[in-house]
Parts: sequence; structure tokens; C-alpha cells
Amino acid sequence: MPRPIQATIHTEALHHNLARARSAAPDARVWAVVKANAYGHGIERVFEGLRGADGFALLDLDEAQRVRALGWRGPVLLLEGVFEQRDLELCSRLDLWHTVHCDEQIDMLATHKTNLPHRVFLKMNSGMNRLGFTPGRYRAAWTRLNALPQVDEISLMTHFSDADGALGIAAQMAVFASVTRDLPGERSLGNSAATLRHRVSAESASEHPDTQAASDWVRPGIALYGSAPDYPDRCARDWDLQPAMTLASKIIATQDLLTGHSVGYGSSFTAAEPMRIGVVACGYADGYPRVCGTGTPVLVGGVRTRTLGRVSMDMLTVDLTPLDRMGLTAGIGSPVTLWGRGQNGSQLDIDEVARHAGTLGYELMCALAPRVPSLVA
Ligand SMILES: Cc1ncc(COP(=O)(O)O)c(C=O)c1O
Repeated sequence: MPRPIQATIHTEALHHNLARARSAAPDARVWAVVKANAYGHGIERVFEGLRGADGFALLDLDEAQRVRALGWRGPVLLLEGVFEQRDLELCSRLDLWHTVHCDEQIDMLATHKTNLPHRVFLKMNSGMNRLGFTPGRYRAAWTRLNALPQVDEISLMTHFSDADGALGIAAQMAVFASVTRDLPGERSLGNSAATLRHRVSAESASEHPDTQAASDWVRPGIALYGSAPDYPDRCARDWDLQPAMTLASKIIATQDLLTGHSVGYGSSFTAAEPMRIGVVACGYADGYPRVCGTGTPVLVGGVRTRTLGRVSMDMLTVDLTPLDRMGLTAGIGSPVTLWGRGQNGSQLDIDEVARHAGTLGYELMCALAPRVPSLVA
């Protein structure tokens, strides 16, 4: 018998979430962002669910090769561009579009030998201060790129730092719009939060009617995987997003605690009255956050309960009191949902669990351990 833990990737949820992103940006094309191995879901496992996208945006050549190996002939974008000169050869061979965010990448292109000019996305640092040319240097970079025979088409790109929060995108949009005002080329502006909250493809154009500020390409990542980009402001259900990953396991032992008995390493939980607990085959070596303390939500047989005590490497413990009170007999073999879909239509958002770990759904998805067997449903 294999250990009962399992991740399930839901193809129809990916379909649904992609359709949601499309409907929020009906006049734009959609990059499905599949970096970090499709946010931990597995590029090969999400491909079927996301192949309706207009292109795949990702991080490195290994991921690009995997997408091409799946038979994808459409656009593929390297979100950080190339890291060294010889990467450009593979860009030519695999017909990869790539971001250009610094002078060194333009230098590499200038000495690259190719008969097939490249499509590039010139990135502006409009305020995030991570990658990109500052507004003052952007047009010079565009002019330099435009003069290169190695470059075919230049698209214009930026990334927002606060699309999910109170600051919003207005200040960065204004900078981007004013600098790019009369530059030709398609625009790629927003992530999930910008697409859903700010409808960057449509409203940005009406907010900046004197520019071509609308996003021709949106770049949703997290929303495709069914997590709210702005949790806890809004949850996945508010955006009509469905979880694309379920992490499930089973109870492998039960214990009857007497008053004063404690649970697990450090004895951090002590029973105030007699109670039954379940031991679940899932621990931090599976990617479940060790920092989740007593009270993190979990579903047992579709019933919401809580974790107790510390998460250990291969196991965690859950309170069976709510099930006992309902007269349900939970025991060895009972199904447990750590996040995603549970029994009888129940659901536990990854964002809720992430919150108990002081982080975001992004980090939990990406941290799913390779030892957890995954299947596509
Ligand atoms: C440049 C770029 N575009 C789009 C995305 C997708 O963002 P999100 O997952 O928040 O939709 C990311 C993710 O970090 C990114 O770095």
C-alpha cells in the first residue's frame, strides 16, 4: 500500500479559471503563467487545462522546452528573458519570445547570429524596482532594440507592485502610459490582480484615452490555479475561481486523549477535556507548512475541523471532536483534505491554510513536495 497522501490537479477547474481570466479581459490575449512548474502543479499536468490560452509565460529554458515537448506551437514568453548569451540560440531554435529588461540583454542580442529575428517584450520599471528600464531610459532602450536586425517586433511590458492592494495600479499606469504614448507595439501589463481587480485590458484604455495603454496581453498566474490574488480582501469564491489542486490524505491512526494529555513535539496542544484525535499522513516534508499551529482548518470526511499541535515531518494531528459530535465515525482510512476539494461538495481554500502559515496560497502551491504523488483528474 502506498502512503495515502495524494495531490489531484483538476483539469476542468483550470479550464474554468482560464475562462474567468478571459472574461475579465475580453479584448486581450491571455498568457497562462506556468513558471515555477506551473506554481507547483506540474507543467505537464496543467497543460490540458490551460491549452486554450494564447501563450505560455514562464521562467527558464527548461520550462520552455517542456512546453514545446508537449506539442505547443504557439507563443512562449520568457518572463525574465535570457540569462546568458547562448540562451539566445535556444530562443531562435524554439521560437521563444523573451523579455528584455537590461542593457546587457540588448548587448547579447546585438552579437547573436540568427536568420530568424526575435520578438521581444521590452520591460519598463514603472515603480516595482525589480526588473526593467527606468522611465527615463526606456525609450533609448527601445530605439537601440529597434535598430537591431536580430529583433523583429518589440512589445511593451510592465509589472505592477500593488495591483492586489490599496495603492492599486494608477500611478504605475500613468508612468507607463506617458512614456510609451507614441510607441508602436502590443502592450502586456497585468497579472491576476490587475486583470481581475483593475480590468487592465479594458478600463485602462478608457482611463488613459490619449494613450494606447490597454493591455493586449494579460498575464494571470495565481487566478488560473484557483487562488484569490487579493486574499483576504476577496476569496476565490468572490472571483468565481475553483481550486485547481487538492491535497488529500487519510487518517492512519487515532488516539483518545484524556484531560491534560498533550500532542506531538513540544507538547504545544493540551486537551482541556477527553477527546479523540486523528493522525494524518501529511507533514512538512510533503509541503504542508510546519508553522501552521493549532487551529488551522482541515476537512475530515468533508467536515471542517482543525489541526492540533505541531506539524511534524510526515504527520499532523487533527481534532475529531466535531465529527464525533455529529455522530460520524471517523477513524483509520477516513479521507482528509488539507486544501482543495473535500467530500460531499465541501471545499477548503488554500488561501485559508496559507493565512495560518502567515503566507499566501502561492507559496503553498509552489512548495508541494516532489514525493507527493500527483494525478490529473
Ligand atoms: C512578470 C509577471 N507577470 C505575471 C505574473 C503572474 O502573477 P500572478 O500569479 O499574481 O497572476 C508574475 C508572477 O509573479 C510575474 O512575475
